[in-house]
Amino acid sequence: MKTKVLMVCLGNICRSPLAEGLLKSKVNPEEVFVDSAGTSNYHIGDAPDPRSVSVAHKYGIDITDQLGRQLKVEDFDTFDFIYAMDNSNYRNILELARNDEDRKKVSLILDKIFPGDEAAVPDPYQGGYHGFENVYNMLDEATDIIAKELNK
Ligand code: 4NP
Repeated sequence: MKTKVLMVCLGNICRSPLAEGLLKSKVNPEEVFVDSAGTSNYHIGDAPDPRSVSVAHKYGIDITDQLGRQLKVEDFDTFDFIYAMDNSNYRNILELARNDEDRKKVSLILDKIFPGDEAAVPDPYQGGYHGFENVYNMLDEATDIIAKELNK
C-alpha cells in the first residue's frame, strides 16, 4: 500500500501545489502518492498561480498538470498525512475531521523544521514574486525532511 500525503492551503493555487510538486520530486511514486487541496472553493478547477508555476520551473519542477480542488471529508479516508500550510488552514481542516483518527493525520508542515513553533508558510497571493521564492525555499526544506522520513 502506498503512503498517501495531502498538502493543504487556502486556494490550492499557490502554496500547496508547490508542496505537492516538491514532495513528488523527492519520493518514489510507486511508494508514495502526493496530492494537494484547498480549504476554500475559490479556485476549483484552476491551474496553479503563474508565479508558483514560474518558481517551480526555475528549480526544474513542473506543476502545470495540477488543478485546484477543495478539501473534502473523504480525504481523511484516503490520506495518511495531511499537511497544513498555516494555522488557519490547520483549524479549517480540523473542523472537517470526524474523530481522533482523522485529527491525528493533520499537522503544520513547518513543524518539520520548527517543531512546536506554529510557524506558517505565509500566503503569498497578494504579494510579489519574491514571496513565492520564500515559500518555495521553506517548502523545499520541509519536504526534504518529509521525504527522508517516507523513504526510510
Ligand atoms: P494559496 O494562496 O492558499 O497558497 O493557494 C491563495 C490563493 C488564492 C486566494 C488566497 C490565497 N484567494 O483569496 O483567492
